[in-house]
Amino acid sequence: MTPYKVLSLLISGIILASCSEKKSELSLDVDDALSYCHGKISRSLTQLGGSEKDYTMMPRNIVDSDTLWNCRKAVQEEWCSGFWPGILWYDFEVTNDPEIRDEAEKYTSQLEYLATLSPYDHDLGFLINCSYGNAYRLTGDNHCREVMLEAADSLATLFNPNVGTFLSWPRNVEMFGGHNTIVDNVINLELLFWASRNGGNKSLYDMAVSHADKTMENQFRPDGSCYHVAIYNPETGEFIKGMTHQGYANNSTWARGQAWAIYGYTMVFRETRDPKYRDFACKLADVYLERLPEDMVPYWDFDDPDIPECPKDASAASIVASALIELQDYCSDYHREQYRSDAEKILATLSGPAYRSAANKASFIDHATGHKPEGTEIDASIIYADYYYMEALLRLKHMQDSSASSLASLSYPLSNLSASITLQSR
Ligand code: GLY
Repeated sequence: MTPYKVLSLLISGIILASCSEKKSELSLDVDDALSYCHGKISRSLTQLGGSEKDYTMMPRNIVDSDTLWNCRKAVQEEWCSGFWPGILWYDFEVTNDPEIRDEAEKYTSQLEYLATLSPYDHDLGFLINCSYGNAYRLTGDNHCREVMLEAADSLATLFNPNVGTFLSWPRNVEMFGGHNTIVDNVINLELLFWASRNGGNKSLYDMAVSHADKTMENQFRPDGSCYHVAIYNPETGEFIKGMTHQGYANNSTWARGQAWAIYGYTMVFRETRDPKYRDFACKLADVYLERLPEDMVPYWDFDDPDIPECPKDASAASIVASALIELQDYCSDYHREQYRSDAEKILATLSGPAYRSAANKASFIDHATGHKPEGTEIDASIIYADYYYMEALLRLKHMQDSSASSLASLSYPLSNLSASITLQSR
């Protein structure tokens, strides 16, 4: 073979390689993805019974080969009931459609009674924040504010001053042998921070900061990966042990737990402006991002020895995408570019053929895993995966649309974005 031939083969090889690399790259059109979500939402509203529907039944998951949402009653024990109303509020934010607003209001109001009860567990934060939090953010309705303040006071009763954290699962004290704090609980500090600056007691702020600090001190390993559950002596506050409940093992890193932590400490920085929380959120994000497989969607637990023959968790991916879009705005170094581009890549993957739900299915995305050790919601569509997917898309849209380069005033779900949309009078 002549040197010329060798050279031309080499060049065509390089061209082919770069073409195939480009071919496999996924692109993301945010408006198109949000309009896809709107289409699915409209159809689900019809499938759920049109004007005859039972508004107490909230979409929760789609498993196996089903195509319609399995719904669960919005009772205290059902932690996911706030996500569907939250999705409707996000859709209203995108479309300004009065019918969607009407549906959002009807579903949201089913959760009001929860604020008046003693809390079943820390998930009262998810339930109220995602529903009423978005409703208040978009409408400024004072009744929503009152419900949120009542819920925050109720949530505060779970705070144990000896420990300095909230009791996440009162029902599991005996089983775990102590006061338990799960890493997911950091997310629910958001309602307390919000309440403390919207007419609630200022002590709610101190409780939230105490929880964030104590959790930071005890619930993470030196590399920034988290234990799902921390057990404390309820009288002395002594940290007893870190363990798991939904992960593979006590010393493993459950992907969604790490996702909640990244999202949670980003929010704690937003609320306190103390840079130690931002730096911590970056550390947690870095260990998560370093360990991701090539498509940027984690396996359900980073340490499952069956990887790559075990389920993915697209819900962790959507939570982290949303968190990174906020976190990048608080960073000024290389993290800013890295987090923004990683969030876009995650969303492009979730919007691509491997994760997007089939056209005849009610959900936005597939391949989330709820509780692997319990054998439930494995490789399924789950409502919170869709909620954070849509939130992340909206955050990205606001970032792209914003003439200002800063996202600091566009935090979710509780800052006031309503100036940018026209709201109906109520
Ligand atoms: N907070 C429960 C979960 O993430 O599954």
